[in-house]
Amino acid sequence: MRDPFGRDIDYLRISVTDRCNLRCIYCIPEGMEWIEKADILSYEEIERLVRILGRLGLRRLRLTGGEPTVRRQLPRLVEMLAAIEGTEEISLSTNGLKLTELAAPLRRAGLSRVNVSLDSLDEGCFREITRGGDLRKVLAGIEAAEKEGLLPIKINVVVMRGKNDGEITDFALLTQQRPWNVRFIEMMPLEGNVGEQEARYVSTDEVRRSLEALGGLEPAEAVRGNGPATYFRYPGAPGTVGFISPLNHNFCDRCNRLRLTANGRLRLCLFGDNEIDLATPLRAGRGEEEIAEKVLGGLMAKPQRHYLELGSTASRLIALSQVGG
Ligand code: GTP
Ligand code: 5AD
Ligand code: SF4
Repeated sequence: MRDPFGRDIDYLRISVTDRCNLRCIYCIPEGMEWIEKADILSYEEIERLVRILGRLGLRRLRLTGGEPTVRRQLPRLVEMLAAIEGTEEISLSTNGLKLTELAAPLRRAGLSRVNVSLDSLDEGCFREITRGGDLRKVLAGIEAAEKEGLLPIKINVVVMRGKNDGEITDFALLTQQRPWNVRFIEMMPLEGNVGEQEARYVSTDEVRRSLEALGGLEPAEAVRGNGPATYFRYPGAPGTVGFISPLNHNFCDRCNRLRLTANGRLRLCLFGDNEIDLATPLRAGRGEEEIAEKVLGGLMAKPQRHYLELGSTASRLIALSQVGG
C-alpha cells in the first residue's frame, strides 16, 4: 500500500476502546464525550476489517485505546488477529495497570511486545499526572511483561514542565540498569489540553541536551519497532533512550501508518480529521472488495503531514485517547 506521497503504509494502530482506567492530565480532559457502546466494533468486526486491510498490506498491528486492556477478553482478540494469514506482529500500547494478570494470557494468544506509559517514578507525582494511578501496579505490570518475554520493553514518558521534567535523568539512568527502552515524548496539543500543553511542553532537544551532560550518549542500533522514535545508548547500558519529537523534528515524511478507531473509522492521519467510514459498509454487509476499494480510494486523501509546530491542531479531536495516540 503506497500513499500519494510515496510512503509505504504497513502499520495499523487499532483502537479497541476509547475508555480508560486512568485520567492522565495531557490525555483525558474532564467532560469527555465517549463513543456510544453500540458503535464500538465487536471483535468479529475488527477481525473482518483487519483481514481486508491485511490483504492490502497492513500487517504490523498495534492495539491501543483509550486503554486497550479495559476491553474484556483482550487475549481473545489477539488470538483472532494472530490467526489472520500475513499478520507479522501484534503489539500493545498500555498504561500497564492490568499487565500483572494479562501478560501471560496475552503472550499465549500471540502478542509480541508492549509499550507502557510511565510518566513518573515518584508515587505522588505519578498519582497526580494520572489522576489516581498506582505506580507500584504499573512497575509490577512491566516486570510481568518482561518475565513473559513481551520484548523489547518500551517505556513512554510524556515530558511535562513542572511535573516530571526533574526526573529525566532518573529515567535515563534506568536504561543503565534495565534492558528497557525509555522514550521521551513531546506533548502534543489537542482541543482538550491546549493551555496545559503550552505551559508544560518540553522539546526533546532540551531533554537531549540535559542527558548529554551525563556524558556518552551514542546513537543506538535500531530497536525493533514501527514508530517514529530515534534511539541512543550509554556505553554498555542494557537499555536505550529514545526520542519522539512530533513538534521539534517532524517525522511525517517517514509515516507508515493508519489508525482504526473503536467505532470503525480508518483515520488517515493522527491529525487532520480525514477518516474513511468502514463501519457503515461493514454493518450493511458489503463485500470485502467493495470495502477494500473504499480504503484504496480514501487513501489518496492521506495528508502529507501535520502542522502542530505552527500552532494548529487542525482536528476535531479533543484528546489522543479518542484514537489511541
Ligand atoms: P513502536 O515503535 O512500534 O514500538 O511503536 P510506537 O512508538 O509507534 O507506539 P506508541 O503507541 O508507543 O506511541 C508512542 C508515541 O508516539 C505516542 O505519544 C504516540 O501518540 C506517538 N505517535 C505514534 N505514531 C504517531 C504519528 O503518526 N504521529 C504523531 N504525531 N505521533 C505519533
Ligand atoms: N502528547 C503526546 N503523547 C500523548 N499520549 C497521549 N496523549 C498524548 C499527547 N497529548 C501518549 C501516551 C501513550 C501513547 C499511546 O500516547 O502517553 O504512551
Ligand atoms: Fe503520519 Fe499524520 Fe503521524 Fe505525521 S502526524 S506521522 S502524517 S499520521
